[in-house]
Amino acid sequence: MNKAKRKTIIAGNWKMNKTPAEAKVLISEMIPLVKDADCDVIACVPFVDLAVALEAAQGTNIKIGAENCHWAKSGAFTGEISADMLKSMGIEYVIIGHSERRQYFGETDVTVNQRVRAALDAGLTVILCVGEQKVEREQGITAELCRMQTKVALQGVTAEEMSRIVIAYEPVWAIGTGLTATADQAEEVCALIRDCIAELYTAEVAEATTIQYGGSMNDANAEELLSKVNVDGGLIGGASLIAEKFAKIVEAASK
Ligand code: PGA
Repeated sequence: MNKAKRKTIIAGNWKMNKTPAEAKVLISEMIPLVKDADCDVIACVPFVDLAVALEAAQGTNIKIGAENCHWAKSGAFTGEISADMLKSMGIEYVIIGHSERRQYFGETDVTVNQRVRAALDAGLTVILCVGEQKVEREQGITAELCRMQTKVALQGVTAEEMSRIVIAYEPVWAIGTGLTATADQAEEVCALIRDCIAELYTAEVAEATTIQYGGSMNDANAEELLSKVNVDGGLIGGASLIAEKFAKIVEAASK
């Protein structure tokens, strides 16, 4: 197992927080704090903040991502945003399949797969979220569930395209709850997702795929989580809204 074969990525997921004016301030605060990062730094922001965030981050090491995209290229989908629209404005990353989309907006493994396909076709890099709910962990089906979500989401994705897939393992019970998975729990599931990728593609593809942990990662627990050999970064919600906290996680990932 060689961690050096893949990129460490710390990505913020701002969710439905920050107006464009506030986004500009937060990105500006982050810039000096993360400028020496030895990992990739991404801020995934609400659609209306994308233009301002791109402008504020221009010429820095902060990359900007969106939090979702639609699967169709265009059409009668009121209120939706296509992957091509994101790409055309200079966006590089998009989160797909976040558990809040699955929980509140009817996202299924099949629509996750359709969105992944659309994002790849548009030239975006995908941060694909998978993870079990509390009841599923209690039922002992975490492994099966995460493998299934991964396999369905990656239907029709080629080995070559896997270089534009980042996977975020996010146990639903740990998101926004302050209940972080232990480092060993995170390692166990990130490792089994990597094994699943090796089965679907090759060991080489699996070794090169960045697999993040997400779920109440913060400045206090990041170092331990990131010390695990299969944990290649983090997808950060709450702690990404405070520049100093986010920067501490970036620092931990840069060690
Ligand atoms: P959290 O969110 O860090 O606030 O738990 C993580 C996420 O939902 O991506």
